[in-house]
Amino acid sequence: SILLRLLLIHGLFLRLTSSRTTVHRGQFPPSFLFGTATSSFQIEGGYLQGNKSLSNWDVFSHMPGKIEDGSNADVADDHYNLFLEDIQLMHSLGVDAYRFSIAWSRVLPQGRFGEVNSEGIEFYNNIIDALLVRDIKPFVTLNHYDLPQLLEDRYGSWLSSEIQLDFGYFAQVCFEAFGDRVTYWSIFNEPNVLIYHGYLLGTYPPGRCSYPFGNCSYGDSALEPYIATHNLVLSHATAAEIYRKYYQEKQGGMIGIVISAPWFEPYDDSPADRLAVQRSLAFYIAWFVDPLVYGDYPPEMRQVLGSRLPTYSAEERKKLLEGKLDFIGVNHYTTLYVKDCMFSSCASPYSLGDAFVYLTGEKDGAYIGERTAMPLFFVVPRGMEGIVTYVKERYNNTPMFITENGYAQPAGAIKDSLNDTKRIEYHENYLAVLSEVVRKGADVRGYFIWSLLDNFEWLYGYLIRFGLHYVDFQTLKRTPKWSATWYTEFLSEDNKIR
Ligand code: NOJ
Repeated sequence: SILLRLLLIHGLFLRLTSSRTTVHRGQFPPSFLFGTATSSFQIEGGYLQGNKSLSNWDVFSHMPGKIEDGSNADVADDHYNLFLEDIQLMHSLGVDAYRFSIAWSRVLPQGRFGEVNSEGIEFYNNIIDALLVRDIKPFVTLNHYDLPQLLEDRYGSWLSSEIQLDFGYFAQVCFEAFGDRVTYWSIFNEPNVLIYHGYLLGTYPPGRCSYPFGNCSYGDSALEPYIATHNLVLSHATAAEIYRKYYQEKQGGMIGIVISAPWFEPYDDSPADRLAVQRSLAFYIAWFVDPLVYGDYPPEMRQVLGSRLPTYSAEERKKLLEGKLDFIGVNHYTTLYVKDCMFSSCASPYSLGDAFVYLTGEKDGAYIGERTAMPLFFVVPRGMEGIVTYVKERYNNTPMFITENGYAQPAGAIKDSLNDTKRIEYHENYLAVLSEVVRKGADVRGYFIWSLLDNFEWLYGYLIRFGLHYVDFQTLKRTPKWSATWYTEFLSEDNKIR
C-alpha cells in the first residue's frame, strides 16, 4: 500500500507539473513537420486586384442562395493585402511549414489562352520568400477547387479532356516560377469533394447533379462524375509527368495528392455493413488514389459499375504509372457510420452515389462522437488510426502527411470564441492517436492544422470558424485564440521527453 500511495503521489505530481499529459512534440520524429493550412479562395479576397480574373467560385458564390449566410469571398480575410501580417502570425506560432494554394485565376487569368500574369507570380513569390526568411517551408497546392471561370464557360472545365492541356500548362508555369524554392507540391486538394459536390450533388460549381442523387429536380447525367474524375486524374498525371521530366531532378521536390479522408465504421457489425465500409473507402478515396498508384480505378468500383466506369488507354496507364505519387495527403476530421443500401433497402437517400451506402453519425439516439459546428464532423480521435492504417496498407506505406485536421466552431462574437478549449482537446487527442500510429510504423511526415485563420467556409460562408486566430470580418483584425497559444507551447517543446 505504500507503493500504491507513492504511485498516486507521483501521478498527482505529474499532473500538477505538466499541463499537457496527453501529447508532446517529442513523441514525433525530429524531422516531422508541423504547420497550418489555408487555401487561396478562402482567405485571399482581392478578387479583382492584381489583374486576377473571376474564378468559378467568385461567380458561383455571387449567385443568390448558394452560400448559407449570403456572403462571398470578395474580401474574405484580405490576405491578398495582409499576407505579411499572416506570415508573422505563423512565425509567432513557430510552425515548420505552411500549406496554401495558388489561385489559377491569378496566375493565368485566361488559362492557356492568355499571358502569364506577372502580378500573380509576384504575389506568390512574395509569400514564398517571406516564409523562407522565417524558416517556414512552403507546402503548395496547385488546385483547391477554384479555376478560371473562362475554362468553365469555354469548354466545361473537368468535363472536357481539354482541361488536361490547361492544367498541365498551369502546373508548368508554377513549377517554373516557384519550384526553385518549393519542394512540396500537392497537385489537387480534395478532388473527391470537388467531384461529389460539383457533379453529383450540384452544391459546388459547376453545380451539376447526377440524377437521382443530387439535390436538384433534374439530372445532368449519371456518368458526369466519372467523366470529370477521369479528366481530373489525367490532369494530375500530366502535371506529374511535367514535374518528373523537367523539374524534379533539378529541384528535388515531392509531388502528391490531398484527399478528403474521413474514417468509416460499420453501422451494424454485419457482413453487409462491413462490405459497405470497404465500398465507401473505394468510392470516396481509392477512386482518386488507385489510378495514381496502380494505374487503374479500384476493383471494388469496377465490380459495381462495369463499363460505366471509363477505362484508361495503354498510353494513359503508362503515364499514370510513371507519375506515381511521392506522398499522399490525408485531410482527416471525422468518422461516420456506414449502412449498406445494396443488399437491403435504405429509407434515406444514398450518400456516395453508386456506392449504395448511407452515411450517418447517429445510431440508437447517440452520436458517434461529440458534434461540432460542421454537419457530419464528429470528434472521434480513433478515426485517425483507422484512416492512416487504411492508406498505409492499401498504398504500401507511401509517405503521408496529415494535410488537414481541425475543429469547427460556430460563428460568434470574439469574447465567446477565444477560449476554444474544445479545439485544444481535439488536437491533443488526435495527435496522441497519430503519434501511436507513427510509432507503429506508418510513414507520416507532417501535420497541418486547418486553419491558420477563420475564413470563408465554402457553403457555410462565415458561419463556421476553424481558425487558430479569430478574424473580425468587419475590421479584419486577427486575434490569437487559446488554441494558438497551445500550439505555440506544443511546438516550442524540445524533444527531451522522448
Ligand atoms: C477541407 C477543405 O480542404 C477546406 O477547404 C475546408 O475549409 C475544410 N476541409 C473544412 O471543411
